[in-house]
Formats: sequence, structure tokens, C-alpha cells
Amino acid sequence: MRILLLGHKGMLGSDLLLKLPKEHEVVGMDKEEIDIVSPDECVKAIKEIEPNIVINAAAYTNVDGCESAKEECFAVNAEAVKNIAQVCRNKNIRIIHFSTDYVFDGTAKQPYKEDDQCNPINAYGESKLAGERYLQSLVDNYVLIRTSWLYGVKGKNFVQTILEKAKTTTTLSVVDDQVGSPTYTKDLAAAVDLLINQNLKGIFHITNRGSCSWYQFAVKILQESGLDDVKVTSIKSDKLPRPAMRPAYSVLSMQKFIAATGKTMQPWQLALQDYLKSIKQLN
Ligand SMILES: NC(=O)c1ccc[n+]([C@@H]2O[C@H](COP(=O)([O-])OP(=O)(O)OC[C@H]3O[C@@H](n4cnc5c(N)ncnc54)[C@H](OP(=O)(O)O)[C@@H]3O)[C@@H](O)[C@H]2O)c1
Repeated sequence: MRILLLGHKGMLGSDLLLKLPKEHEVVGMDKEEIDIVSPDECVKAIKEIEPNIVINAAAYTNVDGCESAKEECFAVNAEAVKNIAQVCRNKNIRIIHFSTDYVFDGTAKQPYKEDDQCNPINAYGESKLAGERYLQSLVDNYVLIRTSWLYGVKGKNFVQTILEKAKTTTTLSVVDDQVGSPTYTKDLAAAVDLLINQNLKGIFHITNRGSCSWYQFAVKILQESGLDDVKVTSIKSDKLPRPAMRPAYSVLSMQKFIAATGKTMQPWQLALQDYLKSIKQLN
């Protein structure tokens, strides 16, 4: 397989680049090589590389930033997906694309299934949903993966933020009224490889197993890092106003992925341990 990996320098993209088996020829392109917002650049890249699969891990991922930069956020998360899908449709190239738990409004009481109604409550979620709709309306040969609360070795993420803050403070306040599933990009990359091998199509929810609040996640990060002297206080989201609203509950059901692949994902607590080991080795 020849794979064009868009966004290979990002948090997920860099783990995909490492994790996709060497039997594939993977060509990575990021902002320096391509602007996916430009239809011409998408046509040119895909024409030159002639991939069997395009994996789109490029996105505008600053959730709060999307509120004030809606045009850019929609350009990258929605219009660019249309560009990619239009080129791939003409050449019957398979697309693997990523979306988010933030397409849901968070009012559910049980994990969201793939066909549950989407109703985003922030601009990022709206833009990602618009991207999903372009993809689904333009091509049949796609895998659309909704995932959540990503962290990885490369890129700004919650685990890194907590560890950074713990260097300079002994008290942290973290919200306990948003519940989701933290997901290690390395595990997600392995799941993508599985979907490629099994030639699956359609929408899949993929996260590490289990769920927690950001508060519970922060407590676990500190505990696993031996930072017992840092105290975490749980607070409500309204005490920490941010530009973008977040869903209160955005756990994704993994039933479809498990039924289709016969595999599951490891619990988020074990994934966190793996990640902490990886970053320790790097330092
Ligand atoms: N992060 C999360 O918690 C999370 C949760 C759920 C779903 N997702 C989804 O998972 C996917 C991967 O997320 P991630 O966190 O790995 O993203 P990321 O680290 O922000 O990486 C995205 C990459 O895309 C590049 N990019 C942005 N605009 C581009 C453009 N116009 N042309 C070409 N490249 C462009 C970025 O470059 P610059 O950095 O230079 O802008 C960056 O290298 C995205 O679809 C995201 O929506 C993420």
C-alpha cells in the first residue's frame, strides 16, 4: 500500500508514521509541504504520490481558538476534507479521517454510538461535523474514526500540561463535571493499522477503554508520576470559564469496533502508564 499521511508532524500523525508497518510506503506531508485548504495543492499531492490510501490526521485542533478563528477552523476541519474527498472520489482512493467526541452535546447518560445524533456545542465540534458530512456525502470508500481526549509524545496535551504545572505549584484545580475517555495516540495508531488490514469501512468510535473526569485523570497522572505532594482540587466548569463550551459527557461506545475487529483497546489507566514510561525514556 502507498499511503499519503497528512498531518504527520502532529500528535496523532507522528505516532501513525511510527506505527504503520514498514511494508507500507508512507509519505508524510504537513503544513510545510501542503496546505490542505487549497484544492489545487490537494490535487497536485495526490496526483504525484498516487496513494492507495489517504490518512488525514491534519486538523485545526485548538478547541478554544476555534471560537475566535471560525473561518480558519472551518477551512481546515471542513473545507479541506471536501477537497481531499473530491480528489479521492475521482481516483477511488480510500480515505481514513479523524473526528471527535465533541460532535456530541454531552447530554447522554451512556456511551455514544456511531449513529447517535450529533449536536455540537462549540465551533470546533461544528467544524468537525461539517467535515464528517462532506466526507460521507462525497465518498463511500472511507473510514471515519471518532476519538477523544488524545495525548501523545508529540504535541501539547493534558498529561503534559499537568506535569508541567506540577513543577511549579503544589495545588491544582481541575474540572470534575466533564467525563470522557483519555486516549493514547500510539494505541489509536495501532487500531488504525488494524482497520487498514481488515479493510473495514464506515464510522468507528475508538478510544482507550473506560472513562473518567479531567479531575480523575489529573489525579491519576500525578499518582503514576510519583508526584504525591501535589494536591488536586475538583471544581465545576463554570468556575473556569473558557471560550468554548465542552460536553459534560462524551464517552464513545466501542461496541462496533470490538465486534468488527475482534479486538479491544487497553484501559486508559494502562495506556497512561505506557505513555509515562515513553516520555521518561525520552528525557
Ligand atoms: N487532540 C485531541 O484531543 C483530539 C480529540 C479528538 C479528535 N481529535 C482529532 O484527531 C486528529 C489528530 O489530532 P491531533 O491532536 O494529533 O492534531 P495536531 O497535533 O494538532 O496535528 C495536526 C497537524 O495538522 C497540521 N495542519 C493544520 N492545518 C493544516 C493545513 N492547512 N494543511 C496541512 N496541515 C495542517 C498541523 O500543523 P500546525 O501544528 O503547524 O498547525 C499539525 O501538524 C484531528 O482530526 C483531530 O480533530 C483530536
